[in-house]
Amino acid sequence: MSAILSDSLSHFYGHGPLRKQILFDIDLDIPEGEIVIVTGPSGSGKTTLLTLIGALRSTQEGDLHVLGKQLKGCSQKVMAELRRNIGFIFQQHNLIAAISSVENVELGLRVTGRYRKKDLRDRAVSILESVGLSERIFHKPEQLSGGQRQRVAIARSLAAEPAMLLADEPTASLDKKSGREVVEHMQRLAREQGTTILLVTHDNRILDVADRIVHLEDGRLMSFTDSVISNNDQMMGLLAGVNEKQNTQTEIDNLSDQEFKSMLQNISEESLRFLEATSLASDHAFQAMLERSLFAFTRKLAQMIRADRASLFLVDNTSESLVLRVTEQLPVHEDIRIPIHSGIAGAVVKTGEPVIIADAYKDDRFNAFVDKKFGYRTKSILAIPIRNRGGAIFAVVQLLNRYDDNSFTQEDLNKVNNVLSELALILESWTGLND
Ligand SMILES: Nc1ncnc2c1ncn2[C@@H]1O[C@H](COP(=O)(O)OP(=O)(O)OP(=O)(O)O)[C@@H](O)[C@H]1O
Ligand SMILES: [Mg+2]
Repeated sequence: MSAILSDSLSHFYGHGPLRKQILFDIDLDIPEGEIVIVTGPSGSGKTTLLTLIGALRSTQEGDLHVLGKQLKGCSQKVMAELRRNIGFIFQQHNLIAAISSVENVELGLRVTGRYRKKDLRDRAVSILESVGLSERIFHKPEQLSGGQRQRVAIARSLAAEPAMLLADEPTASLDKKSGREVVEHMQRLAREQGTTILLVTHDNRILDVADRIVHLEDGRLMSFTDSVISNNDQMMGLLAGVNEKQNTQTEIDNLSDQEFKSMLQNISEESLRFLEATSLASDHAFQAMLERSLFAFTRKLAQMIRADRASLFLVDNTSESLVLRVTEQLPVHEDIRIPIHSGIAGAVVKTGEPVIIADAYKDDRFNAFVDKKFGYRTKSILAIPIRNRGGAIFAVVQLLNRYDDNSFTQEDLNKVNNVLSELALILESWTGLND
């Protein structure tokens, strides 16, 4: 059954000449028990939509059914009844300052009229425990941090086991870790109690919890593809500074190895969530941006171990070839391919092991094709497999010519491996989009 069903839902603010349309013909069909994330720029109408669905505002135009009730033209009484089945979490958490956490949660239980007085306390305590606040049961809001207060507010709305939970930016005042915990609590609620959850957020780190993403733009619902592109914009914003090749290169070149690693960690975490949220999507601008970033990352690997040059081969299983993606002087649009098991990169794919070679031209496996193509003279090589989360090798990074003319060392290999899992996630999200 649909928990939310809207047909040409529109909304206006103001009267007479000041009347302004805010929502335009919104069609939604949200099944029970889904987690829906509502995204969109500031002012696009997210909160307005949420307050209409939550019966906090009267429906003016179009049909809106929530939990089986038609909201268009319904009475205040019906709206009030409906609200009793809905939990609300707003950024300003509306806790009552004079009473403790547990009393705030008890209030949430009491308004439902579903619990006996003697059961209220036990139930409130157990809910607070479930959001990790067992140590803070008797504290008043002012004695709690912003994130803890937010969790009390969440506990209060979860306590009543609402059929639906509407949350407007619930993680806005939380750090990364507690924000994550909060949405995971909600996810559990949806799974265990079949609660339908609508979550407005700007936080693209939590997109992966969604069963679907609804994207609003100027009061209009956008298609999934449009929303992916818009999320790409967010992603690009995130990678700002990694956007222009010139700047990027200097900035990344100047990072210490540790700074480089944590930068990759940040980006790869985002990439992973993005990948999970949009695994079937494809967008050229996004790919181009990642390609530029990868160029800088790969070159940084070379710099870390003082190799002269770096290149990256992507495994293309369909055409059984390795595609050269990143190397200095590579004409941007040229697609250079070698057979999948040829050359040193091919040996890495075949054996799954890194390869260290002191003198390429003395090694039978070496394929001089790429050298010839670029007029380069390879001597030492360090070639390392890059695995996806499933463990399959999908790329090989090759570092060429150690600065001192000697062979690369185990220590060089360790240094590169140290950042490679992050790089792999970023790469994987890139190639995932490429499919
Ligand atoms: N009560 C109101 N009266 C008149 N205009 C309003 C009212 N509430 C919101 N608006 C306008 O309606 C538009 C949508 O507002 P809404 O709060 O739904 O946006 P939002 O997507 O939630 O934005 P944000 O991400 O900034 O919270 C905005 O242009 C806003 O200025
Ligand atoms: Mg809002």
